Amino acid sequence: MKGSHVPLNYHPEKLKRELKPFYIGADDKDITEMLKTLGLSNLEDLYAHIDDSVKMMTVPMDKHMSYEELIAHVNDVAAKNKQKISFLGDGLPQYKVTDVVGPVCDIRGLTTAYTPYQPERSQGTLQTLWIYQSLISQLTGFEAINASLYDRSTCLYEAMNCALRLVKDSTTIVVANTLYPGDLEVLETHARETEMKIVRAPVSAQTGKLDIDALKRILNTTPQIAAVAFPQVNNLGNIEAVDEIVDLCSTNNIKSIAVVDPMLLGKGGLKAPVKFGTRLQGADMVVAEGQHLAIGPNFGGPGLGIFGIRYNEQDKISIRSTAGRFVGKAQDLKGRECKALILSTREQHIRREKATSNICSNQSFVATIAGASMLARGDEGFEETLKTARAHAEKAVEALTSFEGVELKFKGSAFFNEFTLKLPVNTKEFISKATKEGFQVGVDVSNRHTEITGENLLLISFSDIHTDKHIDSLIAFFGKEFQKTKNGTAAPKIQSVMLQIDAPEIPKHSTKEIIEYYQRLGKQNLSPDDGIYPLGSCTMKYNPYINDYAASLPGFTNIHPEAPVEDAQGCLEILFEIQEQFKAITGLPGVVTQGVAGAQGELIGLKMFQAYHRDRGEGDQRNVLIIPRSAHGTNPATATMAGYQTKVVDGQVYGIYTVEALPNGEMNLNQIKEFLKTDGHRVAGVMVTNPNTAGIFETQFKEMSALIHAVGGLVYMDGANMNAIAGILDLNKLGVDAVHNNLHKTWTIPHGGGGPGDAIVGVSHRLLDFIPGVQIVKKDGMFDITRAPKSCGSFHRHFGNFAHKIRAYTYIKALGADGVRKMSQVAVLSARYLHQRLAKSFPCLPAEANSNPRMHEFILTLSPETFKKVEASGTPKANTIARIGKLFLDFGFHAPTVAFPEQFGLMIEPTETYSKKELDQFSGVVETILKLVTEHPEVLKTVPHFTPIDRVDEVAANKNPVFAEKIGKHLPDIIPDRVDNEKLRNSTPADLCEHILKTHQNSL
Ligand SMILES: Cc1ncc(COP(=O)(O)O)c(C=O)c1O
Repeated sequence: MKGSHVPLNYHPEKLKRELKPFYIGADDKDITEMLKTLGLSNLEDLYAHIDDSVKMMTVPMDKHMSYEELIAHVNDVAAKNKQKISFLGDGLPQYKVTDVVGPVCDIRGLTTAYTPYQPERSQGTLQTLWIYQSLISQLTGFEAINASLYDRSTCLYEAMNCALRLVKDSTTIVVANTLYPGDLEVLETHARETEMKIVRAPVSAQTGKLDIDALKRILNTTPQIAAVAFPQVNNLGNIEAVDEIVDLCSTNNIKSIAVVDPMLLGKGGLKAPVKFGTRLQGADMVVAEGQHLAIGPNFGGPGLGIFGIRYNEQDKISIRSTAGRFVGKAQDLKGRECKALILSTREQHIRREKATSNICSNQSFVATIAGASMLARGDEGFEETLKTARAHAEKAVEALTSFEGVELKFKGSAFFNEFTLKLPVNTKEFISKATKEGFQVGVDVSNRHTEITGENLLLISFSDIHTDKHIDSLIAFFGKEFQKTKNGTAAPKIQSVMLQIDAPEIPKHSTKEIIEYYQRLGKQNLSPDDGIYPLGSCTMKYNPYINDYAASLPGFTNIHPEAPVEDAQGCLEILFEIQEQFKAITGLPGVVTQGVAGAQGELIGLKMFQAYHRDRGEGDQRNVLIIPRSAHGTNPATATMAGYQTKVVDGQVYGIYTVEALPNGEMNLNQIKEFLKTDGHRVAGVMVTNPNTAGIFETQFKEMSALIHAVGGLVYMDGANMNAIAGILDLNKLGVDAVHNNLHKTWTIPHGGGGPGDAIVGVSHRLLDFIPGVQIVKKDGMFDITRAPKSCGSFHRHFGNFAHKIRAYTYIKALGADGVRKMSQVAVLSARYLHQRLAKSFPCLPAEANSNPRMHEFILTLSPETFKKVEASGTPKANTIARIGKLFLDFGFHAPTVAFPEQFGLMIEPTETYSKKELDQFSGVVETILKLVTEHPEVLKTVPHFTPIDRVDEVAANKNPVFAEKIGKHLPDIIPDRVDNEKLRNSTPADLCEHILKTHQNSL
């Protein structure tokens, strides 16, 4: 290995799963034995029930790389990026990353755990999110902060939708043109073909701030306005007249949505949004990008969408209309204080098409490290950071405007640490010269506003990453280009009404203290490292360390998404290659890399469908989407978000048309055929998960696609279950037009306790022209950026969760053509083997589908007799499955997916990560659980028994929700495990049964 490569910070040989070929747990002997048990002779036989006409025989991809080759390769790609002194900011500023970030990112219990739906075994994640919510609450003053949304732009869109729900009979949101252009494009893309109308409020050419008179005119003349969305610091660096804007909203009885930079709300910074308005009445909602609180620019992602809403004596209702997860204070049945997810009856998994949003995976782990970083900074750290940024900006503005022809563009408008200069030369050429001299000198904003034209404008941003030397060298660079002829302009004074009123009182903790605290929290969760994490549909497989290593290379993390393409060749290579990888894997000719989660991938797909139909003049006519009843909640929620409102008018269905399942577990194709006969001309498309959520392959998928295409519709495949079919099935042959690949499932990026996810969307030739965002092309050995000719817009300001693309890319390079196929095959083999074993003792669902082979997952249930026994012992049938899920926690495992897609089902997905021995042991545990429930059903009343807390009283937590506490020097208490989780795994199931029974007796 070359000496210049960044050393690994772990020992792969000491890790149980890191060096296994293709990260597959079963060795050849295991595979042979499992095949034999199933009566199969080879891995191909697992797919014998699927028609060969839809298969791919090889994946058109290179051979896999060895571990050593991979380390060298990712370092080489990272080295192709040029790290320069950067003054880019433009809504994604770069600040120092605190010392706690690296170590917290290494806590596998936090990075690899699933969304904390089982609070008794997820207090670790819940506490980190609680700290995040509480600290952001302290910074902004808002009482309720959610546990994160994707990024600023989509978060703002959710806030705008929330406003429409809150203001009766409203249709319109006024959006300041002084928000970042990339954000504005995302808003327009989302709003197209929905009921939301966006009216843009212009900038004033004189002040470089929102034109307040124009805003007043809009408010006076536009009907049905719900809200005004505006920034505190705008896209020219100027501080907006936030008090006036909020006053106008209050007077007009509409909502104010403030978009802020959370860093600038630290001690010594700008006024908190809760105090905006001359009466300090505060904005109604706050939205922000928080990526830079936690991590470097990472070529634009993962971001962190911060959202907050008021929750106080005057308003306890608005929160019910918001999007996203909230962590709340809760108590367990014994009165121990703990945390749990609350208000989930607004969310897609419960409310489906009536949900307030389609969001499922969020940016949980970025929120976790943002919380840890805020503790590391504390008020003092924030103050120091802001002083440094401000001092650099003050020094630079005065020095740079002393050069001939260089002016501060908006002399009367205050800024904090970012300002717009007018240059005497073409800005693009100036930036290009600076690039050659080692600077990313700023962003060209000459054409940002139609009201301000014909000038050469440069937006420059300063922060604590800059040293005095950097500022001096910037000034020296200007000195080489221009003559020093005048006295410079001093930074305009920031009016006191714009400045902070009270410090947020963020406590500062030592690096050691924070790391130890988060490590203890990590132990309260489970990780797929330790053993089977059987959550069906979630593909909780091993997340290789080398992926994180690659993503953490400074050559990647320090690159700003607006860096000139010649400085970002390494990042662009990753994006180009991942496009190629997913073309090979899906068999489809196009790839979109913007999606940051499965649900967003779905939305991207549907928005492309709409653009396609619009282009053919059928935009209005195609108003129905066909979706099976067993679909994940995100599918119907996404359909609504895209603009397919479900209703029945004069007996005709609009929006979602629901398809039922056949007894064999597959969708009812005849029902679809009947519908197409009468309504085919109205069908925009279908959304079908394949293999479906019962783990069954839809063998009639190809036929269905042909029928849908014949009536002019399009086919969306929910690819959450690609782990069963990647490299085996050709989605082009299946007739798929769009499919999302959840990188946080099949493609091994860590789930992060709820996110960030990522979704790469494959598209057919029909949709190539409508691809949103940018595409990376290779010309003369260089990577460049282009856009599709009829692009449907943009879903991310940049390239999605870029750091996750590196992880998936690294994984796929480790698999190569053979590995991708084998991964899927062994995932199916493991599931089918386990299913066969467990089907001997458990009834399976769907009840009449026993002869239909399972793919990557399967659903168990109880016999009617067992349900009756349990009910007789005092646990109602409706609660039984959830309680059995909690019994898994007593054996050291995570619960399977409970009550989805079958109300009385336990869905188990083992993945390919585990050896036969581990599968056998797990199978033994599941059988023991059945025996225990059959012989002692009463234990379900007190489950779980060994987690830090007893069962959580979620009803009480939802009644009087509490979203934050004042975090001080004493961090929230951590309740220890009653029995160490590792000890549970190392105990025999029989011993544990005994222990459970004793504990049950004692707790009565
Ligand atoms: C079948 C299916 N579709 C869609 C999703 C949504 O994906 P995400 O959570 O990444 O938004 C999931 C997530 O669990 C899923 O299982």
